[in-house]
Amino acid sequence: MNSAAIQRPPIGLSSLRSSITWLIITMLTIYVLYSSKLIFNKRQLECPLPSSDISTRQNVEDSSPFANESAISNYSAQEPAVSTTAPPPPLPSLPLRDDTELKHIAFGIAASSNLWDKRKEYIKLWWRPGETRGAVWLDKKVSTGRNEGLPDIKISGNTSEFKYTNRQGKRSALRISRVVSETLRLGMKDVRWFVMGDDDTVFVVENVLRVLSKYDHNQYYYIGSSSESHIQNIFFSYAMAYGGGGFAISYPLALEIEKMQDRCIQRYPGLYGSDDRIQACMAELGVPLTREPGFHQYDVYGNLLGLLGAHPVTPLVSLHHLDVVAPIFPQLNRVQSLHHLFESVKQDSASIIQQSICYDKKRYWSISVSWGYVVQIFRGVISPRELEMPTRTFLNWYKRADYTAYAFNTRPVTKHPCQKPFLYYMGSTKYDEGRNQIIGVYSRFKESSPYCRWTMESPEKLNTVIVLKRPDSSRWQKSPRRDCCRVLPSKRSTNMYIWVGKCRMGEVSEM
Ligand SMILES: *[C@@H]1O[C@H](CO)[C@@H](O)[C@H](O)[C@H]1NC(C)=O
Ligand SMILES: *[C@@H]1O[C@H](CO)[C@@H](O)[C@H](O)[C@H]1NC(C)=O
Ligand SMILES: *[C@@H]1O[C@H](CO)[C@@H](O)[C@H](O)[C@H]1NC(C)=O
Repeated sequence: MNSAAIQRPPIGLSSLRSSITWLIITMLTIYVLYSSKLIFNKRQLECPLPSSDISTRQNVEDSSPFANESAISNYSAQEPAVSTTAPPPPLPSLPLRDDTELKHIAFGIAASSNLWDKRKEYIKLWWRPGETRGAVWLDKKVSTGRNEGLPDIKISGNTSEFKYTNRQGKRSALRISRVVSETLRLGMKDVRWFVMGDDDTVFVVENVLRVLSKYDHNQYYYIGSSSESHIQNIFFSYAMAYGGGGFAISYPLALEIEKMQDRCIQRYPGLYGSDDRIQACMAELGVPLTREPGFHQYDVYGNLLGLLGAHPVTPLVSLHHLDVVAPIFPQLNRVQSLHHLFESVKQDSASIIQQSICYDKKRYWSISVSWGYVVQIFRGVISPRELEMPTRTFLNWYKRADYTAYAFNTRPVTKHPCQKPFLYYMGSTKYDEGRNQIIGVYSRFKESSPYCRWTMESPEKLNTVIVLKRPDSSRWQKSPRRDCCRVLPSKRSTNMYIWVGKCRMGEVSEM
């Protein structure tokens, strides 16, 4: 007990009082000084930069080459457009942190013979014969045509000797979890990473590479992502990479797994799937999951618009459960939809479905671009913190619309008739070599719009949104940041031109 403090004489008390007074005065002074500084700084931020300032700050790369509207409208004429400014210098191509290339990745795809004819179409979408390496692992032989553009087909080893006691799951989980070891045993040369996926997983291979290039393949890495479903993650594990979304294992770690996996599997006969078996072995090796949110398990039903319209600021690596969700382009079937999305992937894989947010200041519209996929236009001002949150256009894994079901924030689909977004899906896209610019034509998805009493201008008249963007393959070598977009002047009220690209200094998504 500190008795001295209690028995302090009155003189000490008064000096304590006066020192408290001094303390208060000092703090007040600091507060006044600090807040005046804050106000001053805030003013500076709020003050819009004079336009001359902007143009001097603008570097060549940032300036819109489409200031002249007649030039934009004529893009389809394929004439060399008159450019008033000199063409921008090519972007210096920054070295990757690592020199990993596509040839260093071995894919191991888990497939089953009974779904093969349907599912192989998903594999064909992303597989690059002669470039991507790896194999598809099946339970038994299937007939395939030559030159189908598919990976080598292998038959998995016999797992009938392994124990499997889970009542809900299927024994094939054993076979599928061994795909890692079996792919390693193929003995391919010069492999740095093993990437596992299902037959209904679609990879954006450049982005697989971009993500893996951040890590040293000589270390032990287990990279992937969780389920969208909070309940699934509780039931399985938040520490597990979901197999359908795909996951990557570095070479030395795959070597370790290969040595112990068959013993490890026998210790967990009660587990459900293949991916939880992998995670159980990872836990024995003490290697945690490195999360990369671009891998998508998509344990949801319905429309992916909410998720693909507000993707986290990270490269899109994979899509899964494409048989379960609705076609991503409503006018096309599932496979056609993905082929269509891949037209944009081919032009700028790094930016595929990356979001940008801007406002039409004259018409009071909020605009959210999911590059290469869809533009959404809303009446009124919706803040970026709302727009970057996925809307629940989908149902959870139990086919219910329950907002507590997800492992991330979502927002409801608005019921207000005036707040329903107008959707412009990517219709056609082409690359203008002269300007080094991708020109995407997005057409309004004609659906009945509910009656809205607001007197403000409606996007109903707007039929086409033309999105202009320069390919930016090195964007992920910088710190993650959402692209900026800007509404360009347009003469016709049925068209809107939007520029998408790297934000200028001081550029803010604000109305
Ligand atoms: C397109 O170009 C033609 C000439 O090539 C021109 O007459 C026409 O006005 C242009 N269109 C627009 C919308 O400016
Ligand atoms: C726009 O470009 C056209 C040629 O493409 C040119 O004739 C016209 O003068 C330009 N307009 C402006 C405002 O620069
Ligand atoms: C797998 O092995 C078991 C016994 O070890 C055998 O009975 C079965 O026929 C084998 N299956 C295949 C497909 O070879």
